[in-house]
Amino acid sequence: MTQSGALPTDRPGAVRVRVPAKINLRLSVGAPRPDGFHPLDTVYQAVSLYDEVGVAPADRLRLTIDGVGADTLPTDQRNLAVRAAQLLADRLGVAPNVAIHLHKRIPLAGGLAGGSADAAAVLVGCNALWGGGRTRAQLAALAAELGSDVPFLVIGGTAHGTGRGELVDPVPSAGPWHWVVAVADGGLPTPQVYRQLDVLRAAGTAPPPALRDTAPPALGGTAPPALGGTAPAVPDRLLAALRSDDPAELAATLSNDLQPASIALRPALRRTLDAGLAAGALAAMVSGSGPSCLCLAADAADAARIAAELTDRAVCSTAHVAFGPVAGATVLP
Ligand code: C5P
Repeated sequence: MTQSGALPTDRPGAVRVRVPAKINLRLSVGAPRPDGFHPLDTVYQAVSLYDEVGVAPADRLRLTIDGVGADTLPTDQRNLAVRAAQLLADRLGVAPNVAIHLHKRIPLAGGLAGGSADAAAVLVGCNALWGGGRTRAQLAALAAELGSDVPFLVIGGTAHGTGRGELVDPVPSAGPWHWVVAVADGGLPTPQVYRQLDVLRAAGTAPPPALRDTAPPALGGTAPPALGGTAPAVPDRLLAALRSDDPAELAATLSNDLQPASIALRPALRRTLDAGLAAGALAAMVSGSGPSCLCLAADAADAARIAAELTDRAVCSTAHVAFGPVAGATVLP
């Protein structure tokens, strides 16, 4: 719901949290597990495209939303931000009486994990509001109960993700890396994109999974070893590129197994990617499950130029410049 005027979360005592979008520099997807999720071997990066989330004491749990796509989002249990407040309240043994306000700037259903970002922000914000004393690692463990991408958005930076994406380990990275995020009209539902990948693989029109199946994570443990193989590790070339400060090196290592599935569902994305490369991007790739597309630029000026060109050529609805890595959900002073 859209709301104007003074918000409960503007009151003294309210906690404001800034939370970034995520992109995947590498997204290797295995065959579906018995629980329906796909095992992932991914490298996440948090980028400077932010939602702002306010939390304040209230007589009951309430959610208001403004900004991008506000009118299309549920404000009840279906919203992950509401479930995040309930989950933390339950674990802390407090009543979930909080007014949450989301100011949305991250495009919806775009492969940038905007909904997961809001849930991460609510965990961090309510932990501060309620004096929960949970560490970031404890909040990340709790976040795994909400969604595959939520733990990373608690941690931020650059990180290796395994399991179904919820097991995250920080990875050292130089930077800033300069990105253009080309946003398409309308979203793509993540489950549909994963299903499409399975269909393409069954038909032999997408490469078979390189990643072996992994068992569900041990309770409180780290990623289990891949069955019949070794635990997924960040490829040496990607690790070296991340340390190198050379965008051309990083460009050569970017990959996304979901890209053929997103393009099969939205063939116009091919034009966006081609236009990005023609405009001088070092690499162009679908972001996560899409339909947002990413261009890696040589520097900030190049990113601004590529974004302007993509907008001029009308191959996307909007093009944002962003840099990464940035911190995960952070309480604002
Ligand atoms: O974990 P999250 O709720 O974000 O996942 C949304 C959906 O995306 C899942 O229900 C599933 O269909 C798909 N998914 C998957 N494998 C993953 C992550 C997500 O199949 N590793």
